[in-house]
Amino acid sequence: MACSLFSRHLTVPLCQSLRLSGPGYRHVSKTAAKTLDEFDYDGPSMKSKVPGPRSKELMRQLGEIQNVGAVHFFCNYEESRGNYLVDVDGNRMLDLYTQISSIPIGYNHPALMKVMSSPHNLSTFVNRPALGILPPENFPDRLNESLLSVAPRGMRHVQTMSCGSCSNENAFKSIFIWHRNKERGHKTPTQEEMTSCMVNQGPGCPDLSILSFMGGFHGRTMGCLATTHSKAIHKLDVPSFDWPIAPFPKLRYPLEEFVRENGQEEARCLEEVEDLIVKWRQKGKTVAGIVIEPIQAEGGDNHASPDFFKKLRNIARKHGCAFQVDEVQTGCGPTGKFWAHEHWDLDEPVDVVSFSKKMLTGGFFFRDELMPDKPYRIFNTWMGDPSKNVFLSAVLNVIKTERLLGEVTRSGAALLHGLIELQTQYPHLLNAARGLGTFCAIDACDDKTRDALIQKVRDKGVILGGCGDKSIRFRPSLVFKEYHVHLFLNIFNDVLAEHK
Ligand SMILES: Cc1ncc(COP(=O)(O)O)c(C=O)c1O
Repeated sequence: MACSLFSRHLTVPLCQSLRLSGPGYRHVSKTAAKTLDEFDYDGPSMKSKVPGPRSKELMRQLGEIQNVGAVHFFCNYEESRGNYLVDVDGNRMLDLYTQISSIPIGYNHPALMKVMSSPHNLSTFVNRPALGILPPENFPDRLNESLLSVAPRGMRHVQTMSCGSCSNENAFKSIFIWHRNKERGHKTPTQEEMTSCMVNQGPGCPDLSILSFMGGFHGRTMGCLATTHSKAIHKLDVPSFDWPIAPFPKLRYPLEEFVRENGQEEARCLEEVEDLIVKWRQKGKTVAGIVIEPIQAEGGDNHASPDFFKKLRNIARKHGCAFQVDEVQTGCGPTGKFWAHEHWDLDEPVDVVSFSKKMLTGGFFFRDELMPDKPYRIFNTWMGDPSKNVFLSAVLNVIKTERLLGEVTRSGAALLHGLIELQTQYPHLLNAARGLGTFCAIDACDDKTRDALIQKVRDKGVILGGCGDKSIRFRPSLVFKEYHVHLFLNIFNDVLAEHK
């Protein structure tokens, strides 16, 4: 039974980290001892290539119903636990991609199973309310104990939503509404505005814009798509807005070695941001907001320095634009801080922070000035799901009691160190290892090699993700420990050594 393995008490002291060359090369954890309430498996176990025969048969069946071009394999979620995802062919894989970075504390975590099995929570799971009109009695308490307990600095308002895209979509709307009220100097629209908006015309539908960055990803709904610039396939054939797109710095790694060059590149991009803001204002399409990811994820794990973000925040303030940080992928701890933008140490808080994925519920935090002025302006049927807030409270409790952010910092350092060693050993295959916490990536020499390495590693029992043109991204959950890092590095090393 799935639960029977949940509380195994294991102690596996592992010895000194050592480095050898070739396929026999073994990373061994120096400090990590497997202790406490481990509910993980001991390691990968492979029975077939992935996808195996059962997955292939299910792909055929599902393919008759919908497009399955993106399906990797089918999963057995009941048997999956901790850092391990089990597939329908009985393959058990160490998961460093975790459902596109959306599993906070591993599969079937006992704390979440407990939430599910409590009769106290039953009605929350069974009755999904239309939160905007009929919230449950405990909803303010639930928000206080979950989302607001981790509110970014300067924020005491949050609006829940269902996914990352609809969080960004509604955050953009809030920014536009705020901006128009600011321009009017009051909150009462004219009759002309009320009439013209009904037929998609100005002045009711104003020509405002959101500035985004080349390589950014903010979702696939219509408004978000106008700010997404990671891959053409996301955007092809869909009408879009004429909104400004600034260059995102193309930095050289390791960052410490290229401080001067990278500083110049960031200055170039910031100059372009200001030029675009001025140009779009002159075009009559004033920039109401700027949206940016702390690390461009989908677009290839592109980093920028705290100094870049500080200056960008100042530019936003100078030009009266709201500054939105999209923490859908970086939020909830994978960089070693709860919010990645905490690494920037900004003088002034940001205006909007959107989230989803590991937070289990979508939504956005916003500053006081962005509070919608009327009902139904930021609204949909569900506006989130209170059961997700219950799970989130349990997740936050585990993060706190098990000090998982410290764990992420330790595992992340070991992972990045191992990746740097591997790129030194296999410079013809790998380069540009980078990361913050376990939010790490490395580039392959080309996209074919990247795809082949991901496939080969998977056949040996480790799931990785791709991003950008040729990057491999690492997105483990927060219970990914140092000994999992070494397990992965050993397998990756074997694959690299054998790669032709
Ligand atoms: C930074 C960022 N923003 C927005 C989204 C969109 O979220 P969703 O896929 O939940 O709509 C994603 C998804 O990968 C993301 O990484």
